[in-house]
Formats: sequence, structure tokens, C-alpha cells
Amino acid sequence: MTDGVLLELQGISKSYNKEVLSVDRLTLKKGQVYGIIGPSGAGKSTLLRIINLLTPPTNGVYLFEGAPLPTNGRELLKLQRKMSLVFQKTVLFKDSVWNNVAYGLRARGYQREEVKERVSHLLEHVGLADLSRRRADTLSGGEAQRVAIARAVAFDPELLLLDEPTANLDPVNVELIENMIRTLNHEKGITVIMVTHNGFQARRIADEVIFINQGRIVETGPAEKIFSNPEKESTRMFIEGRMIF
Ligand SMILES: Nc1ncnc2c1ncn2[C@@H]1O[C@H](COP(=O)(O)OP(=O)(O)OP(=O)(O)O)[C@@H](O)[C@H]1O
Ligand SMILES: [Mg+2]
Repeated sequence: MTDGVLLELQGISKSYNKEVLSVDRLTLKKGQVYGIIGPSGAGKSTLLRIINLLTPPTNGVYLFEGAPLPTNGRELLKLQRKMSLVFQKTVLFKDSVWNNVAYGLRARGYQREEVKERVSHLLEHVGLADLSRRRADTLSGGEAQRVAIARAVAFDPELLLLDEPTANLDPVNVELIENMIRTLNHEKGITVIMVTHNGFQARRIADEVIFINQGRIVETGPAEKIFSNPEKESTRMFIEGRMIF
């Protein structure tokens, strides 16, 4: 196993009627925050779903901590439980905020006391302690998204995948969520992959940026480098807002 490598994709592609994603090689290191940027339809969500094992790739090799994907269903589920995906449009259960966050812990067999401790700590942490008894379907968009992230990280996943988690949110909630992501990464060492349309956001929170265009990874590198001095012309066009899509 290569030290510090969380996952690696080799020759991964996805085709529906036509090929929508083709990744020669992508190596993601533990403890980093990755920002995936690129125009609409580029393949960002497809890549995230492949990483989260929701969408099987048409071809290619997927290595998690150096090991190929297990063929055994139980082992595969165990692997999937090391990751958590949060979508742009949050789907919370029509239940209390508390139960939404507790759900995954109970499903994983955590003991009552442990569930209580974790949920109350998390809700405190994301500033939602006062709302713990509220029904999730009465929350504002920003509150709901914070609950979704709290629910996603309650069981300490190694990898948190976020698909445009702050699209359509007000600046206050955007900042709260960015702070949550930063804290989770710093304090728990969770590796984060965040898809965002917003270059400024990627620049604010990503260590490494991955620019995808037309199903291909065009360029990856430290956020500062990608935004100040990209190597490829299409990257420059995208970050300068000159790419028409
Ligand atoms: N289930 C599917 N069946 C057919 N085509 C699909 C499917 N899922 C995605 N695609 C196509 O794959 C391409 C990449 O889609 P994807 O959702 O990954 O793009 P994206 O970069 O996330 O775009 P956006 O920024 O708009 O969310 C698109 O052309 C899309 O229409
Ligand atoms: Mg998408």
C-alpha cells in the first residue's frame, strides 16, 4: 500500500450512450480537501458517484487504500460505509433533526449512550442544538444542509463527498458550511472531495483542485497554483469565466 494514499482510479471510464467520463489516473491522498470544478455536464457528479460506489464504472481499476474493490457484497458495503455523500438537494427524513443525525449511527449498531453523545456533540458543533426536536421538513435550506452534513459525518467516515453542497444558499450558511468542512478536515482528518461551480469557494477551502472538462481531467494541482497560474488554456478560460457552457 502506498503510504498516505486513500484511493486511486486507473483507466476509469463511464459510458451511457456515449462516454461521459474517462480518467487515466487519479490519486487522492488522505487528509486533503479536494475541490472538483468544471462546467455543467463535465462529469463531476459522475466521478463523485463512481468514487462513492453508487455508479459502477464501465471500465477501469478502483483501489481503496491500495486494495481492489471487494467482490463480496458484505465487504463492499463495509467499504461504502467508510464514505459519505451529501447532495446539493438534501433529502432528510420526515422526522426530528435529532433522529436524522442519529439514524446512521443506530443503523450501524452504535449503543444508545454513544448515539446520544455523538448526536448532541455534533448538533452543538454545527449550531443546531436548539433545533434538535424540530421536524427536519420545517428547516430552512441552510439549516437542512447543515443537518445533512452532520448526519453524513456522525459515524466518522474516512471520506466525505460533497456535490455542490452550498449551491443556492445564502452567504451566512455558505460560510457556516465551509467552516464545518474545514473543522472536520482539521480535527478529524477526514478527506474531503467537494464539487463546486464556484471557483472562489474552491480557492477558499481546497488544498488541491481538479479541473474537469468534457469528461476528462484537464489539470490538477494546488489550489493557489490552479487559480493563479494554470497550465492549460481551458483551465484559464474556466476560472476567468470565459468558458461558455
Ligand atoms: N444516468 C445517466 N444516463 C445518461 N446520461 C447520464 C447519466 N448521468 C449522467 N449522464 C450524462 O453524463 C454527463 C456528465 O453528467 P454529470 O452529472 O456528471 O455532470 P456534472 O459535471 O455533474 O454537471 P452539473 O455541473 O450540471 O451538475 C452529462 O452529459 C449527463 O447528461
Ligand atoms: Mg453535477
